[in-house]
Amino acid sequence: MRVTIKDIQRMKDNADKISMITAYDYTSAILSECAGVPVILVGDSLGQVVMGYDSTIPVTMDDMVHHTRMVSRATNDSHIVGDLPFMSYQVSKEEALANAGRLIKEGGCQSVKLEGATAVLSAVQTIVASGIPVMGHIGLTPQSVNQLSGYKVQGKTIGPARKMIEDALNLEKAGVYALVLELIPRELAAHITDQVKIPTIGIGSGSKCSGQVQVFHDLIGLIRNFKPRHARQYLDLAPKIQAAIENYVLDVKNSTFPDESESFGMDRITLEQVLK
Ligand code: KIV
Repeated sequence: MRVTIKDIQRMKDNADKISMITAYDYTSAILSECAGVPVILVGDSLGQVVMGYDSTIPVTMDDMVHHTRMVSRATNDSHIVGDLPFMSYQVSKEEALANAGRLIKEGGCQSVKLEGATAVLSAVQTIVASGIPVMGHIGLTPQSVNQLSGYKVQGKTIGPARKMIEDALNLEKAGVYALVLELIPRELAAHITDQVKIPTIGIGSGSKCSGQVQVFHDLIGLIRNFKPRHARQYLDLAPKIQAAIENYVLDVKNSTFPDESESFGMDRITLEQVLK
């Protein structure tokens, strides 16, 4: 049985911290579920870490459905959140609902996530009313990178900090079941976490959130020479993978790969018949 939104709420109520990780394909999803991650986000960050774009903006609905399906297929227990990409929910609440429905029906996830507050409240209400759980996302909202003029900490001054508290309360009222708080001061994240009943999931927002989310590639050091300040790198995998591949290239060059144990022989008598 998969983790449900009720289970996620129960974790907050019991002060049981929620870990969420992004996964974008079958292999990363299996590893994450086997490691005991209750919530897996198929984030549109795949635009950067998987597809090589310099932001999440070019990611399409088809991209998200494709990757969400891989993650759903790989898992049985984790709750899968599908991320709605840029311009899939902003144009109208009808379009937002249709696209949320695609992620659920075609992608096989159990809930969807979208970014923003005031401008998306009616989309949130419409999607939730149709029976699809929605996770909100405020603070640094990467789809608005052009408006925010970069990937910077949000809510550091009085006006924006107060607006963020109001946004969190409005999103909760609109029906989101959890709220990502990205790159906001830890004191503000702690206050919002106290003010709302739903769980908050922080990234770069301190330890007082109900849970944390990290990008898979950041956690295991898959991107060479890149470690955001808010990420904790548990492995530095990129140089190790590169060294392994360099060894493979050398072994092929020197004819030391494959050896007999890595290939298949033929019965001598059959061989003689073949070569006759
Ligand atoms: O797309 C993503 O990976 C995200 C997380 C950083 C929250 O939205």
